[in-house]
Amino acid sequence: MARVLSGIQPSGDLHLGNYFGAVRNWVNDQTTKDAFFCVVDLHALTNTPDPEELRRQSIQLTSLLLAAGIDPLQSTLFLQSHVPSHQQLAWILECTATYGELRRMTQFKDKGGDQETVRVGLFTYPVLMASDILLYQADEVPVGDDQRQHLELTRELAQRFNNRYGQIFKVPNATIPAVGARVMDLQHPERKMSKSVASPLGTIGLLDAPSEIEKKVKKAVTDTDDMVRFDPQLKPGIANLLSLLAAATDGDPKVLADSYQRYGDLKRDTSEALVAILTPLQERYEEFQRDPAQVLAILKLGAEKARSVAEVTYASAADAVGLIAP
Ligand code: TYM
Repeated sequence: MARVLSGIQPSGDLHLGNYFGAVRNWVNDQTTKDAFFCVVDLHALTNTPDPEELRRQSIQLTSLLLAAGIDPLQSTLFLQSHVPSHQQLAWILECTATYGELRRMTQFKDKGGDQETVRVGLFTYPVLMASDILLYQADEVPVGDDQRQHLELTRELAQRFNNRYGQIFKVPNATIPAVGARVMDLQHPERKMSKSVASPLGTIGLLDAPSEIEKKVKKAVTDTDDMVRFDPQLKPGIANLLSLLAAATDGDPKVLADSYQRYGDLKRDTSEALVAILTPLQERYEEFQRDPAQVLAILKLGAEKARSVAEVTYASAADAVGLIAP
């Protein structure tokens, strides 16, 4: 059975990009694959969050993943900081990665990587991510398009390590969905929908009320020629709405474009399809919110299962580089 592993940061509210780019595909994967999903609280420290806020967000994100359909009986769902091997292997991989390749990471550059005050954790972030993946000998890593470069680095580090020390790590593949891999901001369709960008009208959160979703879709930036065509270059706003409708209805954005003459109809159907997906998710979320003890118990069990796999890989890697077992 193929093994999948993916991760998500507990920072900011989850949005449709996270859902269509990643989480929904995790839910599908768990039925046929050996699935590990990780709430990457150590990665969230790169945003220097308020401590109480980080604790709250970690529980909230876990509840949302459960509400979205991650089933703890099928998947191993855990907090990254509960499995110390992630940090232990990260150090060994930091001694494998080069300064040049980390400096070239576009997410690092986008977050102000050239500034003196930038935290070192932001620089080494992709190495910790490689550690998350390689510890589980994952075959596949389901992610959105923005993680492509980090996955290439992970593959490169695995290969470099294996060439030097022997076959310790499986070299994983990114699995990026055909539709929804890059959900764009509704107000600025040339940039991706993101938790960190201050664009409340451009981002649809998974917990947004139906009236908010309707308002945001209605106000989504389009263009003036009133022709529905799937053309991400020339008509990024319309292409984004078609992609959202396609993702929500398991359709094809190019085929869907032929069924619409007017922007208003496309917007109405898009917001209806999104509300239909998010309403049941929000109801399940409320149930988990009422029972944080259950969420913590799920994380505890997940960490035990994750540790049993991660510790084996870490021990092989540590032995391979010449560290003496304790
Ligand atoms: P994060 O927390 O930023 O995002 C989680 C997942 O959501 C996807 N995503 C999107 N997909 C489509 N359109 C968008 N606008 C959009 N925005 C976000 C991301 O591609 C991601 O799949 N570094 C990772 C977390 C991580 C990880 C890992 C992932 C840490 N360790 C190991 C995979 C494997 C991140 O910051 O994702």
